[in-house]
Amino acid sequence: MATSWSSSGTDVHLDWDPRTGRRGLADAIRDAVRTGRLEHGAELPSTRSLARDLGIARGTVTRVYTDLAAEGYLSTSQGAPARVAAGGARLAARPRSRPEKPATRWSLQPGQPDLSAFPRAEWLSATRRVLQRTPASEFGYLEQRGVGALRVALARHLARSRGVVADPERIVVCGGFSHGISLLATALRERGNPEIAFEDPSLWVFREIAAAAGARISAVPVDADGLRVSELDSPAVVVTPAHQYPLGVTLAPHRRAELTRWASASGAIVIEDDYDGEFRYDRKPVGALQALAPERIAYAGTASKTLAPGLRMGWLVLPRSLVEPVRGAMAASGWRPPAMEQLVLAELLDSDAYDRHVRRCRAAYRSRRDRLLAALPEPLVPAGISAGVQLLLPLPESGPGEREVVAAAKRRSLTLQALGPHWIRPGAHPEGIVVGYGTPAEHAFLPTVETLLATFGDVIRA
Ligand SMILES: Cc1ncc(COP(=O)(O)O)c(C=O)c1O
Repeated sequence: MATSWSSSGTDVHLDWDPRTGRRGLADAIRDAVRTGRLEHGAELPSTRSLARDLGIARGTVTRVYTDLAAEGYLSTSQGAPARVAAGGARLAARPRSRPEKPATRWSLQPGQPDLSAFPRAEWLSATRRVLQRTPASEFGYLEQRGVGALRVALARHLARSRGVVADPERIVVCGGFSHGISLLATALRERGNPEIAFEDPSLWVFREIAAAAGARISAVPVDADGLRVSELDSPAVVVTPAHQYPLGVTLAPHRRAELTRWASASGAIVIEDDYDGEFRYDRKPVGALQALAPERIAYAGTASKTLAPGLRMGWLVLPRSLVEPVRGAMAASGWRPPAMEQLVLAELLDSDAYDRHVRRCRAAYRSRRDRLLAALPEPLVPAGISAGVQLLLPLPESGPGEREVVAAAKRRSLTLQALGPHWIRPGAHPEGIVVGYGTPAEHAFLPTVETLLATFGDVIRA
């Protein structure tokens, strides 16, 4: 199947099937030049970044560029980026049918890490080690809570990195938080507690998933100190204490204490969505809330921000009273994360490769956040703490509004996410843009930020 990618300054969309190798990549670039999608003078990504984005050897890309330079398509010179040569553009024949373009050229859609940073080499060698030493018996039907080796590795990792009270017996491996919230909503409903409160604002996707699993959804407001605990009146609540999504604040120490007191006194369940707790830039991350009341708080983590959402891998650390109900919900769903991926993730965690990868990503996202903040024009000041892979840009009351900004971005082929859809209660709310600065590949980050700035330039009144 064809793989599509976009190059940095030039945003050419090429269809390249990895099975066609070096020859196929050269054909795809030739085709882009012939059809005019890569214009005369257009700059190609560096061999290093293109190789990383496509997951191939840098030498392969170098060879392709050299061959195309010899054919007159590209001009290359030491220390300068490869460009489409004047003669290359003249080689253009009549435009052929174009591959389908992505809806927009650039994206700051929140919710995604830099997919090109996926640790392919580490994943590959961990897979090899797993295959060399795992007995065939491990590939049979799976225990509902997940592969034992992963639950042991997660217990160690979560205790060390997030202070979670984690025993493998209370861990359930799931398909990301999306699956985790569905399992929890099902288990709570079966126990006779169908109502789940969500932070207002919060990601609507999880509310929809919980509702589909039979939950009745209610809203609890969030302020600068996080969830307003005094307004809680539900048997369960989903909270993002380390980095509230999407406002970006953290749950203040007095609210953490108040929330755990409330849960212990009322017998309610708190679902702690620790979706990006690994990424804090101004200080050591605050430990998980779960440690304050492990029998009342269900901790949920995910590999979607640290590795890739496509892995569909997450984990729940449950109060003992919820282990069997969640296991039952898992059994009834008929699905569980594949054994091989679970074993490979365990290997990554045990070998320190996961921690090294997270450290690398933390440095890269911190640098992106700093560069973005340094470039922002008045009157844009981000809200929230220095953490994660997205930030909220509140919009001034005097305008522009969210719709205007999102529409202006679209005209510049940039996808932005407005704050609006995250609110639960109807009525007027502050407006803002949730900027997912983790989303672009590294080579596309600066052109994407430039497009964001140009967008604001279009709509901010002088
Ligand atoms: C607030 C929040 N929680 C959790 C997740 C992770 O969800 P999943 O593990 O299903 O990919 C995301 C991803 O966007 C998120 O924004």
